Amino acid sequence: MSILEDLDRYIPATYNTMKKTGLLLGSTGSNGKSNLMTIGWGLIGIIWAKPIFLTAVRISRYTHKLLEESGEFTVNVPTEDMGEACKICGTTSGREVDKFDKTGLNWKRGEFVKAPIVEGCPIVYECKILYKDSVKLQTLPEDLVENIYPRRDWHILYYGEILKIHGKV
Ligand SMILES: Cc1cc2nc3c(=O)[nH]c(=O)nc-3n(C[C@H](O)[C@H](O)[C@H](O)COP(=O)(O)O)c2cc1C
Repeated sequence: MSILEDLDRYIPATYNTMKKTGLLLGSTGSNGKSNLMTIGWGLIGIIWAKPIFLTAVRISRYTHKLLEESGEFTVNVPTEDMGEACKICGTTSGREVDKFDKTGLNWKRGEFVKAPIVEGCPIVYECKILYKDSVKLQTLPEDLVENIYPRRDWHILYYGEILKIHGKV
């Protein structure tokens, strides 16, 4: 079955977990080191007749640097007992901390990307960035700019083509 046909099967669990604990976005820099960052915002759907995972990453994140270097990422849907790991990955930066050491999570490289696949995750998306765009503050409603971007730390929207879904649901 193609990924496009398969997508519906994984979307409900992915969205539920994204709302609860967040998902773990994996990336690997040009130095070969991998990192995880928790994400709470994202979309899955079809654009350009391709399955796409859209993630919004602020320019201040270390992950932003790694995505710019590598052009690829994974999205790992954690299990319920990975809640503490999601907190750690959402509150510490890979600039200072090795989050795999800190959380005890194990990983291996993706089949199609160098970004990490977190062991034990029931769903993992391997994605290659097809397109990206910066949120343009002048085109957003003013209240949103003030609420979401008081420090003008805007998001880059990365449209990742889903190359592979590892799924156990
Ligand atoms: C539940 C949760 C959801 C988050 N969602 C996002 C997100 O969608 N985009 C983003 O840029 N940061 C998000 N963050 C913040 C980053 O995960 C956090 O700043 C992290 O420390 C960045 O790691 P890095 O510097 O290693 O990339 C979220 C944090 C939490 C706890």
